[in-house]
Order: sequence, then C-alpha cells, then structure tokens
Amino acid sequence: MTIRRAALGGVLIVAVLVVAVLVRQGRDADPLPGPPLRELAAKRGIEIGTAVRGTEQRDNRAYRQLIAAQFSSVTPENELKWYALEPERGRFEYAYADMVVDRAREAGQQVRGHALVWFNQLPRWIRELSSDELRTATEQHIRAVMGHYTGRVGVWDVVNEAILDRGGLRRAPFLDKLGPGYIGEAFKIARAADPKAKLFINEIGADGINAKSDRLYEIVRDLKATGVPIDGVGLQMHSNLRGVAPTFVENMRRFEALGLEIHITEADVGIRLPVTERKLQAQADVYKGIVDDCLAVSACKSLTFWGFTDGRSWIPETQPGMGAATLLDEQLRPKPAFVAVQRALSAG
Ligand code: G3I
Repeated sequence: MTIRRAALGGVLIVAVLVVAVLVRQGRDADPLPGPPLRELAAKRGIEIGTAVRGTEQRDNRAYRQLIAAQFSSVTPENELKWYALEPERGRFEYAYADMVVDRAREAGQQVRGHALVWFNQLPRWIRELSSDELRTATEQHIRAVMGHYTGRVGVWDVVNEAILDRGGLRRAPFLDKLGPGYIGEAFKIARAADPKAKLFINEIGADGINAKSDRLYEIVRDLKATGVPIDGVGLQMHSNLRGVAPTFVENMRRFEALGLEIHITEADVGIRLPVTERKLQAQADVYKGIVDDCLAVSACKSLTFWGFTDGRSWIPETQPGMGAATLLDEQLRPKPAFVAVQRALSAG
C-alpha cells in the first residue's frame, strides 16, 4: 500500500513537472503565410537574419520555431557582448551565447557575432585598467572569444559604433587609452584569431550620406590602404516612419567600390504609439524600401532585422512612446511589414 502510494506520488510529481515545462514552453507557432523569408532571400543571393534573445529562444517554443523557419542568419542580441562573455577579467561565460550558436547550427543558419570592441555594455573592470592593461585585455578578449567560436561564428562586428554623429571619434576607454589606432589594431588581432571569419565595422546612423558615414568611409578607406584586414561594413538601419535616407544606395555603392561587403545589421522601423492602420502601412513601405535598396546593390549580402516580434524588441523597452518596430505583432502574427518584406524579396 505504502509502495503504491509512493509510486503514485512519483507519477504525480513527474506529471506536474511535464505540465510545468509544457506551460513554460508555450504553444507551437501559427504558420506564417507564404514562403519563408529565408527561402525567398536565398533565391536573391542574400542572407536574411534576426537578432535573437537566448533565454526567450530557450523558453518560448513559438519564438524558437519562427527563428528556425524564417531566417538564414542570427545575431545574438546581447549574449556576445563583452559584459556578458567576460564579466570578470579572464573568466569567460559562454553558456548563453552557446545556446544561440548551437541552435543556429542545427537550423543551418549563419551567425553574426556582435560585438567585440564597443563602448557600451562593457564589464565594469575595464574602466579600471591602465593603457597597457587595456591593450592586453582587448587582445586576450578578441582571441579568446573568436577562438571559442572558430568555425561557428562566420562574421564578426569587430568594432561597433566608433563614430559620433558629427564625424568625430566616440569617447570610449579604447579611444581614450589606446588612441584612434585601436580600430586597426582590433582588426589585425581578429584576423589572426580566426583567419576565416569575415570582419566588419558596424555603425548606427550611417545609412545615408552624412558626416558620420563620411568619416566611416575615410576610416575604412584608410584601413584598406594600409593593409588592415577588413571585409565589410555593417549599416544598422534603425529607422522610423520618416523612411530610408534617399542617399542610402549611393552610400552603399561607395563602400562597395572599396571592395567591401555590406550587411544591413539591425533594421527596424519604430512607430510613435498608438499604432494605427495607416502607420502600419507606412511602416511596411519603409521595410520594402530597405529590402529594395539592399537588393539594388550587389555588395549588400545580408539583411538582419533587430528582432522580429514587437513583443521582444529594444524599441519599446528603451524609447518611451515608441514601439511596434518589427515584422510580427506581439502575438507573432504577421503585420503589413512582414508581407511587404516577403513581396520585396519575391519581386524580380
Ligand atoms: O541583463 C540585465 C538583467 O540582469 C536585468 O534584470 C534587466 C533589467 O532591465 O536588464 C538586463 O540588461 C539589459 C540588457 O539589454 C540585456 O537584456 C539592459 O537593461 C538593456 O539596456 C539592454 O539593452 C540592449 C541595448 O543594446 C544596450 O545598449 C538591447 O537589448 C539591445 O537590443 C541593444 O542593441 C544595440 C546593439 O547592440 C548596437 N546597436 C544599437 C542597438 C540598440 O540599442
């Protein structure tokens, strides 16, 4: 009798655990209409990607399924940043980033590694280093991280957001302590750490021709001219309903002329809330413009969205009054923007 009761108790506990896991994992994704974006993008010769949140991907089945089904490239949104990977000097934590990278391999997706040298999301200990210590720590960080992901992360944003809107270099421990040469140094270290990885400089607000993209152009031109290994330029493309800069294509073409690949790395289109049908339609037009412009330039080989659902996007989390910036709504249902991207990829 006691044994039967114990067995029954055991069965109950297992059942409760199974139900808890099922509830946590949620439901299957409703299928999205039409061919998957990754299939359409492949026909046009580009990768189509999204930023991914590792814990959400682990815990939310529908989110996970849509990433695998729709995209051919992923960028861990925060998991490969310095603060996440090396919270204490020399102690590396790869578990969260590994989750995203391993799933990408299972789904046959490219991984964009974001970002090795960036002024933001740095661990606190970096600020306490002397110049020499920072130089050594930067080299060790790049070598360790790229070494860990050799063969698994094919593209790296080696330097991210180094320039200010008016064209000056952005203050950061790297600029302050290592001087402007830190950019070239980072690329040389990165090439040595993984000779097969593609190395990118990534920038925000440099999509059209402006003071910032002019400076970006000068920097990469000089890097190329002095033999520093750089393969491409990432244009983030955080946008709003004002639309794509009219000089976006012209801007991409000048980088193309330097022999560089171009990736659109963080596209989204923020809407001032509340959302209306008219705004959603305008947003769809902006997304269509981004796809069309990438397809118009043969060096534009990859287009990544900074998240694909309004339920998981940095815009409402950090910009009060703004939101609804992605292709799917909070319930993972397609918005006009999703259909517009699908059509733009299908056209031609
Ligand atoms: O990790 C902590 C967590 O412990 C804490 O409980 C939680 C409470 O708010 O915060 C968590 O940290 C957040 C982190 O994302 C990880 O989720 C930070 O508050 C939040 O500020 C941080 O935001 C990220 C932002 O970069 C930081 O600058 C966004 O998710 C991420 O989308 C955004 O991405 C950047 C690109 O890397 C570079 N280009 C611009 C883009 C948008 O800002």
